[in-house]
Amino acid sequence: MRIETDFLVIGSGMAGLSCALKLARRGKVAIVTKKEKAESNTNYAQGGIAAVFDPTDSFSKHIQDTLEAGDGLCQREAVELIVREGPKRVDELAEIGVQFTRKNDGRYDLGREGGHHIDRIVHVKDHTGRDVENALLEAVKNESAIEVYENHTAIDLITEHQILGPYNRAAQRHCWGAYVLDDRNSNVLRVQSRATVLASGGCGQVYLHTTNPAIATGDGIAMAYRAGARIANMEFMQFHPTTLYHAEADSFLISEAVRGFGARLVTRNGQTFMEHYHPMGSLAPRDIVARAIDAELKKSGDPCIYLDITHKKSQEIKNRFPHIYENCLYYKIDITREPIPVVPAAHYSCGGVQTDLHSATSLSGLFACGEVTCTGVHGANRLASNSLLEAVVFGHLAAESAADFARREAEHYPAIPPWDESGTFNSEEWVLISHDRMEIKNIMWDYVGIVRSNLRLERALSRLRLIGQEVENFYRRTKVTNELIELRNLATVAMLIVRSALTRKESRGLHYTTDYPRRDDEAYRRDTIIEKKEI
Ligand code: FAD
Ligand code: SIN
Repeated sequence: MRIETDFLVIGSGMAGLSCALKLARRGKVAIVTKKEKAESNTNYAQGGIAAVFDPTDSFSKHIQDTLEAGDGLCQREAVELIVREGPKRVDELAEIGVQFTRKNDGRYDLGREGGHHIDRIVHVKDHTGRDVENALLEAVKNESAIEVYENHTAIDLITEHQILGPYNRAAQRHCWGAYVLDDRNSNVLRVQSRATVLASGGCGQVYLHTTNPAIATGDGIAMAYRAGARIANMEFMQFHPTTLYHAEADSFLISEAVRGFGARLVTRNGQTFMEHYHPMGSLAPRDIVARAIDAELKKSGDPCIYLDITHKKSQEIKNRFPHIYENCLYYKIDITREPIPVVPAAHYSCGGVQTDLHSATSLSGLFACGEVTCTGVHGANRLASNSLLEAVVFGHLAAESAADFARREAEHYPAIPPWDESGTFNSEEWVLISHDRMEIKNIMWDYVGIVRSNLRLERALSRLRLIGQEVENFYRRTKVTNELIELRNLATVAMLIVRSALTRKESRGLHYTTDYPRRDDEAYRRDTIIEKKEI
């Protein structure tokens, strides 16, 4: 089957939905999304959206905090862009119906999170993402120009590779849409578009312990890499310092806003320790807090540290953090009475598909926004709550750029061949997929975590190479399924992270290695770029 559309948007999180809403004014939009519409990282966001609204705040203060967190690697123009555009985009979200928490006088209630020197997090209590996602979905439902294809997984971008054959010598590569698997009947669709927007989110699932839901398998990064797009800074994987330590809680996030509200990180004996690591204590940037916890746990041999908010009034805690309170209570932890056991877990990919200030990737016709990208905003470590901000600002810019591109170009599509599944069979070896997936996650957790070394990274590389080859061979002879697509992408993304980490022979932001414990501005104040030369 073939779908023709003006714009293809891959992903229905904050970036994809906000982009699609703007594109709907400029043509026909198809959103493909691999599960139900609302399933995304966005849906789980708790803390909120960083933006300048407080009268004592300023753009330059927000810019400064972002640059400091990014440890010398942010691109200043990109940071200025999201900070200056932020308040406008947040107000637009309020206009489409997001009921942000407000003070008695009607102004936004602003929270505080790590690395911010001032209260600037706009939020809906502690379930900001869910409310934003729902409001965007409601707005999308009212747009007749948008068609949403749920349970549809993008497999690969359509480029010269499919049209001219592999290893062609096209000087400038183009993207004309994507092959997409309809999970309900296993058909593969050709979705042909005048411009394509990747908004497929991050890759936390590449690690054993992660705050990310199951959809976050790095599909967009892997697809773009295979298509020859430039991928940047994959070594900078952010570990969130505080996820619930409980066998069944699946790395449930305890928002940094809890620390912003006054909670302190303490050891089993109730001792604070963050003051020994950073002047901002428990509210230091995330890379520093996660590393400090890792160091304390190694020193004590304890399995977790604790987050103590019990000194605050019980009703205030329940009112500000209803979701966290209820969820912890479900696991028999009353956060108003006892400290919360917490450990770090993989949370956010600062690297991704490299884009310019207009959301354009290095492939003509392919734009990208949200966590799938590396826009230059986050540098070596993302400042808290700058991700939703980046997603909505670059979602807007991607829509403008994709619409301009479609107007200027691509009147004539090349003939796109149907999906080629010759030589593939229905496999009965599905156990290989779940086994390989777990192996990748374990390797990444054990060898490519918060603290790295050459030895661990080399070990990860050799094991991942083998798994990557096995997965690719299996993929070539098996009919595609969602699980197989994800496994192939996880294998690719894991390799990209390890290769990038091995390239950076210094410690900066989220990349800390015992072999090069210092920052080396002279040699490494630059992005790590990986690009496939032959596709
Ligand atoms: P997502 O919201 O992840 O959406 C990606 C979409 O792409 C999904 O719909 C997915 O199904 C779809 N998709 C993926 N692959 C395919 C494919 N192959 N084919 C079709 N569809 C595909 N950031 C903040 O700024 N503030 C916060 O308070 C905050 N809290 C967070 C809390 C948690 C628990 C987590 C996990 C993250 C949090 N973040 C926060 C980070 C932030 O939520 C994400 O970075 C942001 O939501 C990313 O938005 P996105 O639209 O780029 O991707
Ligand atoms: C949180 O609420 O702690 C997550 C915020 C973020 O990821 O920016």
